[in-house]
Amino acid sequence: MNTARTTRGSALSTAFVPPFAAIADSDRPPPTLIESAKGIHLTDSTGHRVIDAWSGMVCVGLGYANEELIETLVAQTRKLSYAHSLYDTTHQLTIDLCERLVEVTPESLQHVFLSMSGSDAADTLLKVMRYHNNVTGRPQKKHVIALDRAYHGANSVVAGLTHFPECNDNFDVPLPTQHHIPSPWHFGANQGRSADEIIGNSVAALRSTVAEIGPENAAAFVCEPVMITAGVIVPPLGWLAAMGDACAELDLMFMVDEVVTGFGRTGRMFACEWDDVKPDMMFLAKGMTSGYIPQGAALFSNEIYRGMTEAMSRDTIFGHGFTHTGHPPSCAVTLKCIELYLDLVDNSARLGLHLLSRLTELAEADPWVTHVRGRGLAAGVDLLGDKDAGTPLDPSLDAMLRIRREAHRRGLMTRVFDGDMFGFAPPLIITEDEIDEMIEIFAASVAAVRNNEDQQ
Ligand SMILES: Cc1ncc(COP(=O)(O)O)c(C=O)c1O
Repeated sequence: MNTARTTRGSALSTAFVPPFAAIADSDRPPPTLIESAKGIHLTDSTGHRVIDAWSGMVCVGLGYANEELIETLVAQTRKLSYAHSLYDTTHQLTIDLCERLVEVTPESLQHVFLSMSGSDAADTLLKVMRYHNNVTGRPQKKHVIALDRAYHGANSVVAGLTHFPECNDNFDVPLPTQHHIPSPWHFGANQGRSADEIIGNSVAALRSTVAEIGPENAAAFVCEPVMITAGVIVPPLGWLAAMGDACAELDLMFMVDEVVTGFGRTGRMFACEWDDVKPDMMFLAKGMTSGYIPQGAALFSNEIYRGMTEAMSRDTIFGHGFTHTGHPPSCAVTLKCIELYLDLVDNSARLGLHLLSRLTELAEADPWVTHVRGRGLAAGVDLLGDKDAGTPLDPSLDAMLRIRREAHRRGLMTRVFDGDMFGFAPPLIITEDEIDEMIEIFAASVAAVRNNEDQQ
C-alpha cells in the first residue's frame, strides 16, 4: 500500500508524482484539492471559496467557466475532435490560427509552429535555431544565453535555460552551451541604480558573455520581457529594446518568451509592445487558451524561415512535429480567446495601475511589505523584517507559509516565491472591487501573522 490517508480525505499517493513538490517528504501537508471554479474564484473540496490571485498557474486570463469558451470547446470537439497536421494533412482552423497569430504579434514574426506547451514551443525554437545555423554554414553557433532566475520550461534542453537550482540540479543542465547573465532586478545588487545603469549592466553582461563564448559560437539570447515567473521582476522601460539592439549587433537570435506576458497580462496584448520590440523568435502558451485546453506556439521571422527553406532541397522533410500540433479544439479555443483578450487589454492596463496603487499604499502602511513593482495585471512585493535596515524576515517565524495559509483561510489563494516575495496576477476579468478585496485579505493576513494572531 503506497498511500497515506490524510484528515482532508485526500491521499499523499506515491502513484501521483506531483510537479514542483517535496516528493521525498511523506509528512508534507496533503495537497489542496480544487473541485470547481467560476470567474476569479476557486472552490476546494471542503467547499471553501478563494480568490485565485495567480490565475491558476498564471494562465487563466479569461477566468473560469466562461460560457463562450466552453461552448467553443464543446462545439469544436463535436465537429472535429482531432485531425493531425502531419504529411500534408491539416484542417482550416490551424491555418486560420497561425495567420491570426502573425497578425496580432510583432510584425517581425511571420511563421508559426503549433505545440502543446511553453516548454515544447521553446524546444521547437531551439531546434529551429540549430537547424538554421547548421544549414546556413554556421554549425558551431549553438550557445544560448538566458537570465538568472529565468523560467523557460522543463523539457530536457530548455530546462538548462531555466535557472533555479531545483530545476537544474541532478538533471545535468545547464548544458555546456547554456549560459546565464544577471537579471535586471531593481533591488538587491541593483538597489538605487537608475534605469540607464540597469540597462547598461545587462547589455555589458551580454556583450562580455558573448566575448567569452566566442561570437562565432554564440547563437541566441532568450528572456521574458517581464520576469513574472521569477517573482515579477520588472525591467525598466527601454531594457527589452536595448537587449534586442545588442542581439542584432552581436549576431544573436533574439528570442522572447511571452508564455506568461502574452495575451494582455502586462496591459498590452504582448509585452514586446511596451518597447516596440521586433524579436526574431517568440514563444507562447498558457493564457493563449486561458487554460481551457493545452496549446503552445513557436513563432519566428521570415529571415530564419528563408534561411532554412532555401538550404533545403524540394524533397527535404522538416522532421519536427507533435501528434497534437494544430489540435482542432485547441485552435478553436485560441482563436476565440484572442478576440476576448483584445477586449480586455485596456482593463489589464487600467486595473494594473489600481493594483499597483493599492500595493503601494499597503507598503507605506505595513512594516513588512516593500519593493512594490508591476506592469499591467502582474505585480509583486517583497517582505522584509526591517525595511530600513533591509534585513529579511526572521526565518524562525515561518512567516511566508503562515501568511499563505492565513490568506487561504480568509479567502485568497496567493503565489509565494523564494526570497520572501508574493505575486499577484489575477484573471484579467477581475474588477476594481475584487482587487480591493484581494489586497485587503492579503494585508490582514500579513498583519495577523506579524501579530501572532493567525490560526496555525
Ligand atoms: C515564462 C515561462 N516560460 C515558459 C514556461 C513553460 O510553459 P509550460 O509549463 O506550458 O511548458 C513557463 C511555465 O511556467 C513560464 O512561466
